[in-house]
Amino acid sequence: MSEPQIHISATKWDPTDYDRTARFVSDLGEPVLRLLGPKAGERILDLGCGDGPLTKRIAESGADVVGVDPSAEFVWAAKALGLDARVMAAEELNFRAEFDAVFSNAALHWVRGQDEMLDGVHKALKPGGRFVAEFGGKGNVERVRAALVTALARRGIDALPLDPWYFPANPEYRARLEWHGFRVADIRLIDRPTVLPRSLGDWLGTFAQSFLAPLGEEERAEVKAEVERDLAPILRNKDGVWSVDYVRLRFAATRPL
Ligand code: BEZ
Repeated sequence: MSEPQIHISATKWDPTDYDRTARFVSDLGEPVLRLLGPKAGERILDLGCGDGPLTKRIAESGADVVGVDPSAEFVWAAKALGLDARVMAAEELNFRAEFDAVFSNAALHWVRGQDEMLDGVHKALKPGGRFVAEFGGKGNVERVRAALVTALARRGIDALPLDPWYFPANPEYRARLEWHGFRVADIRLIDRPTVLPRSLGDWLGTFAQSFLAPLGEEERAEVKAEVERDLAPILRNKDGVWSVDYVRLRFAATRPL
């Protein structure tokens, strides 16, 4: 299957900054955790575990959980919670039929090699094992993305090669899962407008690094301010609180017996 056209520069994750600006990402992971329904004694892989709060929740259910993430800084933070966390890219999973379930929250939209990743997840699962995940779906943060594209275009920069995000539609991702041999029990798009704990500019500094990478420090601040100015009338309320147009793609699939 063809890959989305993306050429990203790496996003650098700083666990301290993430804790301040993005803790809502794991806080809002409760529904997908419920869909996973981890049980004592199960062996579970948390794909894109970040700094580990949901991995810890899975461990507290009595499951034996392994977290993987490409960010060494995140893995370090997850290990500090006492978790088995390993630095590993999603495209390079090297497990063989050892997990009862693979879980992922808010990570798959960063994965460039979707087909390599899905192949690795399929191989990592025992026959009958489940793959339960949630990530950005079609329309996710669309207004923010459009405002970034416009701000960069004003400076003569094409945002397309800088765009790190893959937000597929429901039928597209179902087909992709099935093509890799999964049986899809449920897949759905969910609108989830999300209140930010800090400013949209702070959110951009954490999540939109790739778009801002070609700019110097001063221009970066200008672009953030410009995006805020463009979007304030629709995404900021009278108390100054920002709410972003998040859309989730949530699914439960299995590796057939
Ligand atoms: C998300 O979790 O949907 C998301 C994360 C980073 C950038 C954009 C969206």
